[in-house]
Amino acid sequence: MSQGVNYFSKIVKLLKAGKLYPKVNTISGPSCHTEMNIDGKKFLTFCSNNYLGLAENKEITQVIIDGLKKYGVGSGGTRLLSGTLDVQVDFENKLADFLKGEDSITFSSGFLANAGAIRMLVDQFPYKIPLPFSNKDGIILTEELNHASIVDSVRLAKSEKAIYKHNDMKDLERLLEEHKKKKKLIVTDGVFSMDGDLANLVEISKLAKQYDALIYVDDAHGTGVLGPHGEGTSHELGVEKDIDVVMGSFTKAWGSIGGFIVVQEKELADYLRVTARSYIFSDPILPSVVAGLVEALEIIKNGDALRKQMFENAYYLRSELKKMGFEVLGGNKIPIIPPLLGSEKNAIKFSQKLLDAGIFALAVRRPAVAVGQERLRLTTMATHSRKQLDYLLENMEKIGKELKII
Ligand SMILES: Cc1ncc(COP(=O)(O)O)c(C=O)c1O
Repeated sequence: MSQGVNYFSKIVKLLKAGKLYPKVNTISGPSCHTEMNIDGKKFLTFCSNNYLGLAENKEITQVIIDGLKKYGVGSGGTRLLSGTLDVQVDFENKLADFLKGEDSITFSSGFLANAGAIRMLVDQFPYKIPLPFSNKDGIILTEELNHASIVDSVRLAKSEKAIYKHNDMKDLERLLEEHKKKKKLIVTDGVFSMDGDLANLVEISKLAKQYDALIYVDDAHGTGVLGPHGEGTSHELGVEKDIDVVMGSFTKAWGSIGGFIVVQEKELADYLRVTARSYIFSDPILPSVVAGLVEALEIIKNGDALRKQMFENAYYLRSELKKMGFEVLGGNKIPIIPPLLGSEKNAIKFSQKLLDAGIFALAVRRPAVAVGQERLRLTTMATHSRKQLDYLLENMEKIGKELKII
């Protein structure tokens, strides 16, 4: 073994020896259903982001099958180089209308949407074309608990970066004041994916107006879920017109794959189409999948009954866990339900005991959350039955007592 590889091998051995190396289970059959098969055994699952159950929707599946026959199994090339398909343009227009923006761009993943868009909204214009005005980098003000894809996307920027404390508007204002002369971009999750709480978009909007900053909201967990008809967090909070860019992922409520941005002003999308490198240099979402997303959009728009079922399940699980004595983070309407477990060891033991009882709900540890903040990240779907939720609750209580967490 070379000296270089030896270094990695030693670290992996260390993690495995301390039982800190995560076991990734191989699932046979669908992983989006409320029950799934691992090594021939059935497990109830509470860790899927398929909030509305659309990943197994029959109409969407049929549209994708038809799309595969029409468009084939590949996208053929990047959009700038090989052209853009009618179905992609149609979907982007419909998506922008749904979120009440002027334009939208899809990317092959949410991670890539962040990686492409964030830096270009604050870095200087990247091409060597003489500009008749000053062209400077700015500063990104990013939330402490933002998703890892934002953290990495912010690192890509050449501009300065500063982190403000979780939902601490005084801290954000302090930074805005300190950097008031610069071009500023505020970046926040809409729904925080590990804590299940919302960004204070009302205050952020006020501050952004006062200090002339752009706002970018990663609403991966909000679109399809919150708002009058699933439009997302900014619509839920009534500030949709103030958010310059909403980003989302099709891997959550949409039950599919890919990411997007929707912009309030078309010029922002036009600018990103020629500067966002993950759009220019990466192939788009498979066209058949885009056809499926057109169908998913209709279901989401008309999905109030599905959302009601999802909210009822989330509320029931959250309130029953609290009654048992668990400290549960997050808000009532959010299908992310994180009971804190106190330590990494507890977290590992807890999810192993759940697995022994036939429940798949994995613990979240570093690097996803800080040490001491280990938790289960339970998620509910519209498709969970009350009986399934009660089985989870029964086991949560039993294990919580055994490990002296409640
Ligand atoms: C808040 C947030 N942003 C972005 C992403 C990345 O989305 P995708 O899975 O489409 O790459 C995720 C996915 O885990 C997420 O939770």
